[in-house]
Amino acid sequence: MNPSRRHSQLCREIAEHDHAYYVLDVPKISDRQYDALFAELGALERAHPELITPASPTQRVGGSAREGVTKVNHEHPMLSLDNTYDEAQLREFDRRVRDGLKSGAVVHYVAEPKLDGASLSVVYKDGLFKLGATRGDGKVGEDVTENVRTIRAIPLSIPDARQHTLRGEVVIYKRDLERINELRLANDEEPFANPRNAASGWLRLLDTRQTAERPLRAFFYELVERHYPSHHAALQALDKLGLPTHGLHELCTSVDEVLAFIERFDKRRDSLPYETDGVVVKIDELVQRDLLGKTSRFPRWAIAYKYAAEQVTTVVRGIESDVGRSGALTPVANLDPVSVSGTVVSRASLHNIDYVAEKDVRVGDSVVIEKAGEIIPQVVSVELEKRPKGAEPWTPPTHCPACGHAVVRAQDMAALRCPNSKCTGRLKALVFYFTRRTGMDVDRLGWSLIEQLVDAGLVRDLADIFALPSKREQLLQLPRMGDKSCDNLLASIESAKQGRKFSQLLTALGVPLLGSVAATTVAQHYRNLRALLHAPAEQVRSELSEVHGIGPKLTDSLVNYFDDAHHRAVAEKLLSLGVVAEEPEREALVVVDGPLSGQSFCVTGVLSRPRDAIHADIQKAGGEVHDRVKKGTTYLVAGDKVGDTKRKAAQKHGTKVITEQDLAALVAG
Ligand code: IVH
Repeated sequence: MNPSRRHSQLCREIAEHDHAYYVLDVPKISDRQYDALFAELGALERAHPELITPASPTQRVGGSAREGVTKVNHEHPMLSLDNTYDEAQLREFDRRVRDGLKSGAVVHYVAEPKLDGASLSVVYKDGLFKLGATRGDGKVGEDVTENVRTIRAIPLSIPDARQHTLRGEVVIYKRDLERINELRLANDEEPFANPRNAASGWLRLLDTRQTAERPLRAFFYELVERHYPSHHAALQALDKLGLPTHGLHELCTSVDEVLAFIERFDKRRDSLPYETDGVVVKIDELVQRDLLGKTSRFPRWAIAYKYAAEQVTTVVRGIESDVGRSGALTPVANLDPVSVSGTVVSRASLHNIDYVAEKDVRVGDSVVIEKAGEIIPQVVSVELEKRPKGAEPWTPPTHCPACGHAVVRAQDMAALRCPNSKCTGRLKALVFYFTRRTGMDVDRLGWSLIEQLVDAGLVRDLADIFALPSKREQLLQLPRMGDKSCDNLLASIESAKQGRKFSQLLTALGVPLLGSVAATTVAQHYRNLRALLHAPAEQVRSELSEVHGIGPKLTDSLVNYFDDAHHRAVAEKLLSLGVVAEEPEREALVVVDGPLSGQSFCVTGVLSRPRDAIHADIQKAGGEVHDRVKKGTTYLVAGDKVGDTKRKAAQKHGTKVITEQDLAALVAG
């Protein structure tokens, strides 16, 4: 056959198999047969390079590393959706819709799954995939074209030359994430908390070859161009064009039918391969959508219905206490592993001893658990009728489970503490915190390796991390430590030694009250650890009293921290081991009169972007950023794994808790 014809035939066949495998989830050929097609295509293109087109499947491997982040203006803003949580709110939406349209108008809704991933905009022109972009703040997103090219669920060409701007969601299948997390745990790496964060992170990797290796999928749910009169017609057309759609939408002629869909869908969503957190209800007729228009943040023609967090029952096998970096003991329930909201859970925090007493959680109890904000598992209640005979109330530990020192309970506090400053449990937690990404960012240092290092006496204080390069022989004695992993570990320690900012080092030390925002302010002032350490306490006090954003309590905490002989010794040791940590000059931040002027924010939890990038967005929009929620804090921007303290403080001060997406909408004004 002539090479050019064979080339198009192979491209078409591979595209069809990609669709069958990645979208329909029913492969038609074996991996081996697929690889053979691919190999033939590769060989053909090597012999005839002129045949390579942007739509060839060989162009999906990634490799054209992105030079950094390029922004794209969304031609049409990417709006987000208002949320409802119950029937009444949904009926209220229906009423607003009917009030907004001519009286007696016939309204059809499309009900469809709300996919829980990262939103994506994709543009096809002249039948070719041209652009992929993240949502960003809705007006400006990030150009991820080269990353999207590696997602095999998304065709590189479609048989329609008109421009198609599509909105959809990049998702990870639950089974794919489970597999990856098992590997990560085996390699001592932290597992990904949920598919949403992983999807958003992988989509934006600068090295597109890495994206190519990740099991990302995508589904489209909106066509921006008005090629069809209704939404359901558009979805059908997208499907015909070979574009991935969820295929789970239903046309409803009343709000009652929508409610029935919501109930039916709830029963089957667990069995879907990807996570969904609700149902999106959209007006079908595009003309009616136009009549209703939008508010500054949301369309008036669509709304999300969010399901309550999934609850499941499991059995408590034990209650142990984790030692935190301040010495605080947190009771944790060990559970029979169960799957909740898509991940397998075997531990749940019990917060503090008062919480355990109040819920009366006992070993052997059947408990109802849920993931708060769908992330951290919580014990909601005990099923008393199932309590086994003889189950004893839990007794809080009298001695630290890590070092055996007697514990103390501070007056009026629910927390038990191990007061031993040399406690190894505490040291492990300190080292863990010290080396996380917001701090010294030492790659490849997971929890179990930290445990081994401390237990083997190789790490006796924080600074010892940087002495590890001279202990290669001892490191190699550790279980599962080969030459290669040792080299990698030492390389990442070396890079942390040279490449961190002073603000990161200060944050990593975990000085009480000093979060990353205040640490940056202090670091800006002193530039490096040596300068701060060697400035007399009185001088530090008087200098910081002049600095905006650093109050007297914080100054006290900082001065007291470095007044402590052990802390000083560790700091000096860090310097002598060659930890550089210089703070770069910051670009002067011109705080304009922006949409966030007069408002203050605290950002917390695990977020989809680095926290300092989010801080910078807030500041650029005129908002103030603080480490803690205090009186007058307007918003708490909460990611995943948000601690109780922050939530309680928000409640106390009337601070509104919002998501990262809500923040983006506020910033967009
Ligand atoms: S439509 C103007 N449909 O939910 C309406 N969004 O909270 C545009 N999402 O940013 C969105 N599944 O990332 C739509 N079937 C679906 C969806 C969906 C998930 C996400 C989307 C959006 C967010 C809004």
